Amino acid sequence: MAIYRAGPSDGVAWLTGGSTGIGRALALDLAREGWTVAVTTREQDRLDDLVDEASGVAGKILPFYCDVTDEAGMARTVEAIEANAGKVVLAIFNAGTYFPVHGEALSLSAFRKTYDVNLFGALHGMIPAVEAMRKRGRGQIVLVGSVTAYFGWPSTGAYGATKAALNLMADSLRFDFDKMNIRLQIINPGFVDTPLAAKNSFVMPALMPVEQASARMMKAIQSGGFETTFPRRLTWGLKLLRLLPRDVVHHFLSYVTRWKGRPLMPGRSWEDDGLENLRPHMRELPDHGKLAKRARRGKKPAR
Ligand SMILES: NC(=O)c1ccc[n+]([C@@H]2O[C@H](COP(=O)([O-])OP(=O)(O)OC[C@H]3O[C@@H](n4cnc5c(N)ncnc54)[C@H](OP(=O)(O)O)[C@@H]3O)[C@@H](O)[C@H]2O)c1
Repeated sequence: MAIYRAGPSDGVAWLTGGSTGIGRALALDLAREGWTVAVTTREQDRLDDLVDEASGVAGKILPFYCDVTDEAGMARTVEAIEANAGKVVLAIFNAGTYFPVHGEALSLSAFRKTYDVNLFGALHGMIPAVEAMRKRGRGQIVLVGSVTAYFGWPSTGAYGATKAALNLMADSLRFDFDKMNIRLQIINPGFVDTPLAAKNSFVMPALMPVEQASARMMKAIQSGGFETTFPRRLTWGLKLLRLLPRDVVHHFLSYVTRWKGRPLMPGRSWEDDGLENLRPHMRELPDHGKLAKRARRGKKPAR
């Protein structure tokens, strides 16, 4: 029997992290397709303009504010959505954070904060949502991973580890979710031009605009495949790269990201100094704005 695929007439789509970036674009695209979209982010009133922007489209956007690190609050959010908006049939765990981690300035708090949002934040929502779906005998869950899960990129020691954990967790949970008629999906985007990606101080190959990323995610949610990764010209190459010895992968990534030229800066971290203070120390710095403009025009990012 085919596993359930949610549609806008079945109930509500719940999306975490819709105030900026990929989540914001995806919330609008879902509403345009007729979905009632319950959006969860932290700060009150942060979603007012998003709600306004969605007025006049086929569906609507309803804010349900909560910090994804608040376990009890996330369970209450599921209850509030179901009581006020409708049954959650599609849940997309997109909220994410990124603290670049540098080997010479390790910070436990960067790891803790990243795990709290990216991994436990998704679980805080997924556990009550799956319980409600299990009782109803159907549902669709989407986890947002990243290509940084495939292998270690510079400065993604914490971030990439949480995304790898989400991927492995999805592989494992799928065995049981299939039996509960709950479709589980993992979407691993490449590099997308958002406030989160702007924290990166390495050259991001094939950086893409949020609208394109959201369109790919909409297609993935509708088609229901287990793993979706994009843009293909980057991610298929990365998948092949995974077959090579890890030494080869390491040297290749050092080269494409230009990380080799970055000097060590003991005692300084992105958190302490701000990226702007680190940038003057970097060689051949990427201009993310220009890369994104080129991507919008359909040109290959120049390196
Ligand atoms: N950009 C990329 O290159 C890229 C690539 C692969 C995967 N991803 C993944 O895509 C997802 C979206 O990222 P993005 O690039 O669009 O980043 P973004 O623009 O920084 O958006 C992150 C969203 O997460 C929300 N959020 C963060 N911490 C939260 C918390 N504690 N509780 C509730 N909401 C929280 C933020 O809302 P508030 O701050 O308003 O609460 C915001 O809406 C993330 O999971 C990210 O890891 C991004």
